[in-house]
Amino acid sequence: MSIIADLILAGGKVVSPDAVIEASVAIKDGKILAVGAADAMPPARETVDVSGMHVLPGAIDVHVHFRDPGYPQKEDFASGTAAAAFGGVTTVFDMPNTIPTVGTAEALAAKHKMASEKAHVDYGLYAVLGEDTIENVPALIEGGVIGFKLYMGNTFGKIASPSTGAMLEAFEVVAPSGKRISLHAETNSIMERRETRLRQAGRTDPLAHLASRPAVVAIEAVSRAAILAEWTGARIHILHISSADELRPLREAKARGVDITGETCPHYLMLSADDYARFASVIRVNPPVREARNQEPLWAALADGTVDIIATDHAPHSREEKTRNDMFDVDCGFPGVETQMPLMLTAVNAGRMTIMDYVALSAAKPAKIWGLYPRKGVIAPGAEADIAVVDLAREMRLDDAGLQSRAKITPFHGRKVKGLPVHALVRGRFVMRDRTLVEGTRGHGRSVHTIQEMPAPAPRNTDQTMESITRVPARQQESTA
Ligand code: DOR
Ligand code: ZN
Repeated sequence: MSIIADLILAGGKVVSPDAVIEASVAIKDGKILAVGAADAMPPARETVDVSGMHVLPGAIDVHVHFRDPGYPQKEDFASGTAAAAFGGVTTVFDMPNTIPTVGTAEALAAKHKMASEKAHVDYGLYAVLGEDTIENVPALIEGGVIGFKLYMGNTFGKIASPSTGAMLEAFEVVAPSGKRISLHAETNSIMERRETRLRQAGRTDPLAHLASRPAVVAIEAVSRAAILAEWTGARIHILHISSADELRPLREAKARGVDITGETCPHYLMLSADDYARFASVIRVNPPVREARNQEPLWAALADGTVDIIATDHAPHSREEKTRNDMFDVDCGFPGVETQMPLMLTAVNAGRMTIMDYVALSAAKPAKIWGLYPRKGVIAPGAEADIAVVDLAREMRLDDAGLQSRAKITPFHGRKVKGLPVHALVRGRFVMRDRTLVEGTRGHGRSVHTIQEMPAPAPRNTDQTMESITRVPARQQESTA
């Protein structure tokens, strides 16, 4: 009896990190059944003509803030994942700075329940690794996390940054699990002191934000995190790399064999200090958008692999929260999950990188780094059918009002893009079709922590961990008994 596919995407150009091939894609039961010539495809219930379009593995955005629960005026899990679907993003990893913070098994369980009811796309949930949550690590892993988030510096949500001592202990505790720790790598004490001084001096203008967080804030944090990861064998990921100068400690750590990866975001590649005049407080984000001289080294780092992936730090806030007079009172960040792919495809069209490079940075490499590959991040038989069908010739002007996110304000407002996702499929099901959200897909998204297959963990200096040194030797126990 011959197999009948559920769907065939016919006649597109299928993209992987190594090749672009003219091929049709057959999908069955949420997975890729076959990739090949049109006449080699099995019969199918539905065939969709995608000729002229590129067929990409859906983007995996490992850094979004969907604000649920806690801040419905900014976003919720339904609006955030709908924005993702519009952006060709089929998996997101959501950050824990919600109310309550995701630092206990109870908060995590509640978030899993909420997300499973609302998500249009697949997701992973981060838990926070802070001074007071180290003891919860086993229960959080048991409850299903994609990884941990550690705030070395303060940002939206005011999650206290752990001391270096607590950070070392946190790394020791997570290392044996092999879970990756994603770091907000900005050193708090430097920023706090400078912000206080700037305020005292009466500086609350947009550029005061940049002045309060010079690149040394990130250079120091990346270097310190790399040393602790090297000592403990913990896997770490540097979030939102914003400066040329933090690339050096990142490169050096990689050369020493530290399991360290990094991401940058479109705003660090495409915006600069020159844009503060036009966008004023809207551009406030942590880390800050920096001087234009940082852009070329960041592009080069993507090309040479120093920076592994593209993510967005999708950080929605309401217009009122983004447009206050005192720069230090403005909420940090802006939406990005739906503008990443159009912006990066525009760069592909401009010859900045190939579409194969883009697929590596947006899908294949994130899947590999978090143990989801080859179930996700690739269009090949057996993989989950997470797909973005894109039209590289289609143009649009990004516009605040056109955003799917509840946060209708972005410093990319007015920018012309060329290259748009037209359809998005999550496990074989259209969630966005012809640039329209498909009804009934709320709740289709699932947590991906269940398919995480990380390489064997490699903890180091285990005889010197806090746990080892505080274990009372048996002999001593007897003598005190
Ligand atoms: O600008 C930012 N906003 N940076 C962060 O790290 C957090 C984010 C948020 O949650 O708003
Ligand atoms: Zn963030």
